[in-house]
Amino acid sequence: MKIEGKSYKTIWFENNLVKIIDQTKLPHQFVIKDLKTVKDSINAIKTMEVRGAPLIGATAAYGLVLSIIENNDLSFLKKSSEKLIASRPTAINLKWAVDRMMKKLNGINEEDILKIALNEAKAIKEEDEVFCKNIGLNGLKIIEEISKKKKDTVNILTHCNAGWLATIDWGTATSPIYHAHQKGIKVHVWVDETRPRNQGANLTSYELNEEGISNTVITDNAGGILMQRGQVDMCIVGTDRTLSNGDVCNKIGTYLKALSAKDNNVPFYVALPSSTIDWSIKDHKQIPIEERNSEELSHVEGIDENNEIKKIRIYPQKSKSLNLAFDVTPAKLVTGLITEKGICEASEKGLKGLFK
Ligand code: MRU
Repeated sequence: MKIEGKSYKTIWFENNLVKIIDQTKLPHQFVIKDLKTVKDSINAIKTMEVRGAPLIGATAAYGLVLSIIENNDLSFLKKSSEKLIASRPTAINLKWAVDRMMKKLNGINEEDILKIALNEAKAIKEEDEVFCKNIGLNGLKIIEEISKKKKDTVNILTHCNAGWLATIDWGTATSPIYHAHQKGIKVHVWVDETRPRNQGANLTSYELNEEGISNTVITDNAGGILMQRGQVDMCIVGTDRTLSNGDVCNKIGTYLKALSAKDNNVPFYVALPSSTIDWSIKDHKQIPIEERNSEELSHVEGIDENNEIKKIRIYPQKSKSLNLAFDVTPAKLVTGLITEKGICEASEKGLKGLFK
């Protein structure tokens, strides 16, 4: 998608370097950063210079490419893969991408390994782009239907950033919105601010603005009243890990939106590429929920009237805080899963129907 009219992807490989858009600087500064080593990749994932399930998967894949360039040694590569998987615990795409790379590289000789690693990382990247595009074309049908019935602007609520910045391009939750906009359907997006890191306000609103899509940032607690007032036609969110029973683990606060949507008969859709499905665990209590630094809660960052980025504390130093980064929305609250292969019920039967 575009920034100031120019098309970008979120990650690319150039002159033996991995290039990323540093998302910790958005929306106030647009900075392209070079990742030179596997350590840089791990750090970019941990500090959330790159974030969003599909994008951290692709960054980890390219991290292994950098690991080979740095030191073409099998034990170094294995250590790199373990560190990459451990860099963030919740999104399954990270492990999925590293496992896929390691499987491909298994038994390959030193001369060929870099070329094969590069091809596989590129394949992961390009596949995600196609999958997200198809998620959009599938989700478009739902928006089209609502638009036909309503004969007015379709109001869509989204949480966090499951936009193109969280993927390679298109996004998951935003892809149907981009496709609808490109088709001339009138859409307006309620953007949950998404405390504490404000990915909604900082990233989703930013990328929708750049594409000329009408959007309004709301506090995380405003979705309920908007739904009661009939001002939300549907919700679309992303996911970091979807279980085979249709339970969905996504950014903290997603569950509360789903409860509110259920209470108000608002359709609640989850958009995902198949790389986000974890077929291996059956119980959501087994999902490792990331707990991040409490400073993300106690401090906020913004730009002042002199265009200077400032970080300030917002509550007493003595106060304790708990910064859980994700929650689980049970399948019973999910109207449907929008995937690259089609839309299905949030259940084992639904998912297995699409992904044999
Ligand atoms: O902590 P983040 O910013 O990486 O969390 C991102 C989300 O929760 C997204 O909704 C999810 O990764 C889906 S991305 C298409």
